[in-house]
Amino acid sequence: MTAPLRAGDPITVNVALGDRAYDIVIGRGQIATLGERIAALRPGCKAAIVSDETVARHHLAATEAALKAAGIASSLVLVPAGEGSKSFGMLERVCDALLAARIERGDLVVALGGGVVGDLGGFAAAVLRRGVDYVQVPTTLLAQVDSSVGGKTAINSRHGKNLIGAFYQPILVVADTALLDTLPEREFRAGYAEVVKYGLLGDAAFFAWLEANWRDLFAGGPAREHAIAVSCRAKAAIVQRDERETGDRMLLNLGHTFGHAFEAAAGYSDRLLHGEAIGLGMALAFEFSARRGLIAQAEVARVIAHLAAAGLPTHVSDVPGAWPGVDAMMNLISQDKKVKSGRLAFILVRGIGAAFVTRDVDAIEVRAFIAEKLTAR
Ligand SMILES: NC(=O)c1ccc[n+]([C@@H]2O[C@H](COP(=O)([O-])OP(=O)(O)OC[C@H]3O[C@@H](n4cnc5c(N)ncnc54)[C@H](O)[C@@H]3O)[C@@H](O)[C@H]2O)c1
Ligand SMILES: [Zn+2]
Repeated sequence: MTAPLRAGDPITVNVALGDRAYDIVIGRGQIATLGERIAALRPGCKAAIVSDETVARHHLAATEAALKAAGIASSLVLVPAGEGSKSFGMLERVCDALLAARIERGDLVVALGGGVVGDLGGFAAAVLRRGVDYVQVPTTLLAQVDSSVGGKTAINSRHGKNLIGAFYQPILVVADTALLDTLPEREFRAGYAEVVKYGLLGDAAFFAWLEANWRDLFAGGPAREHAIAVSCRAKAAIVQRDERETGDRMLLNLGHTFGHAFEAAAGYSDRLLHGEAIGLGMALAFEFSARRGLIAQAEVARVIAHLAAAGLPTHVSDVPGAWPGVDAMMNLISQDKKVKSGRLAFILVRGIGAAFVTRDVDAIEVRAFIAEKLTAR
């Protein structure tokens, strides 16, 4: 870890993927530099901004102004806010609008928004004219530390989430941390779960730093830039080792096997946001690891205390409403996309900062654990 820099200085994290390498630029006010950065990478290009209506209301003017200042002509494609926009229908509309705006090879898509806009805009860029470049301008904490980095793009199908997509890297990510000032507190907290994840999966010192500094991060102090940079570095390092998720990249799914099951059981609704489900899922992954004798109960308690302090659910009963029975929950767990030859991949921990992937977990054991958690109050 490096010492936090002064607010105002951007931090640059490079994602080293050979001829598909790109920079993530992190800092307050960096949106103002978007145009000049793009002009330096793609002189003479024009751009189409893809955004959602909520994000556009807050941050479109600054984005357009930054492009204009660098002499980049831009058009706009707006989609409704929310997960529902990651659909075939919306993809078609976005692609048609991009073609109508005469976006050609050599031009750019700028995805301005959270993970929904990033996934949709990135996938549209991947398939438009067999691939045009795109830039991510993430506007949620989740997008700044997770979805804008690593090149996974996708829409949903009626068969499940993120089932239609492509690995397609952006040419630049500009994460202006001031844009998060307009994010609803609950969305910020949910994104924070993914920040904690990087500490829990591979960096105990970062987790300890978060325990001491998380309030400054929420308040928009210099801790915010630092935490986002550490998170991006951690994700970049894993993506560099395993771009297409055949091994190490699965570590990024810490908390996601349990978390996705609860997220699905809640119908991907406001009842449980993705990051909230991951907070709960990580708490469960730690408890499950303790049950297997991999980690001391005191460490589990420490993790749960921190997640709870930040306002994330850590017990099944923290989420209001009823859950389906254990059979239905097991069904959801086994539908997780990390199933291979019938064996579920679980991300377990040997300690804070020491996650590992295993397929050596018995369904009976998971069932007993979930049954107990569903009835615990
Ligand atoms: N590609 C990946 O690697 C990856 C990783 C994790 C998650 N995801 C995807 O990301 C999506 C979730 O992303 P998300 O949590 O960013 O959700 P989101 O994009 O839906 O944003 C959440 C809400 O906040 C609003 N919003 C966004 N930025 C704002 C701002 N600065 N101020 C005020 N409001 C703002 C949005 O309009 C939306 O209503 C899911 O579809 C998930 O599958 C992708
Ligand atoms: Zn996640």
